[in-house]
Amino acid sequence: MAINLSRLQIEKLSDSNIAIAGQFDCGDHDLNEFLKDDALKHQKERIAATYLCFYEGKVVGYFSWLTDAIEIKEKDKRVFKKIGMSYRTYPAIKLGRLAIDKKYAKSGVGSYLVKSMPENVIFFSEFIGCRFATVDAYETAKEFYERIGFKMHSEREHTVFMYLDIGSSY
Ligand SMILES: CC(C)(COP(=O)(O)OP(=O)(O)OC[C@H]1O[C@@H](n2cnc3c(N)ncnc32)[C@H](O)[C@@H]1OP(=O)(O)O)[C@@H](O)C(=O)NCCC(=O)NCCS
Repeated sequence: MAINLSRLQIEKLSDSNIAIAGQFDCGDHDLNEFLKDDALKHQKERIAATYLCFYEGKVVGYFSWLTDAIEIKEKDKRVFKKIGMSYRTYPAIKLGRLAIDKKYAKSGVGSYLVKSMPENVIFFSEFIGCRFATVDAYETAKEFYERIGFKMHSEREHTVFMYLDIGSSY
């Protein structure tokens, strides 16, 4: 479906818009259920903040954010030295969840939302140390993140941990 990306609107999840999120379907059971059942609870517990993305009054996508840290293993030290740093951990903002409704997939919404992350990390880093954007990507979405510039850090049980260096790229 063709989408005018400049007309997307982002709204924080709340008691007043959670009902409309019930119609959201990205084709992934866990991501659908998270939005309906857990996202608001996590937000109230300050575990993760969730934002809905609206287009013409419909929820076309959502994402959740939380803080994170990248731990540098011995084998990766060389890579991080290249950017002039040699700390054991680096502060980050994690894209905890990202999903686009099936009807609007491949319309550019997902990459539009992920590409807005650096700007936000820069904003946060004015107040608190924060250098990277991270994501635990589904194996099936790894290439999607690579195309945006994320690099592979390590494999996890069902996901791939990836990072984007805000400091040197933006
Ligand atoms: C993966 C997902 C977030 C991508 O969002 P989207 O809005 O469909 O993606 P976009 O339209 O912005 O795609 C941008 C480019 O990446 C490509 N792309 C999209 N999904 C991809 C995938 N899973 N793997 C590889 N490339 C992908 C698109 O074809 C497009 O390429 P183009 O620029 O050459 O046309 C979305 O399809 C989704 O929600 N999937 C189900 C849930 C999921 O996997 N979430 C990610 C959890 S980590």
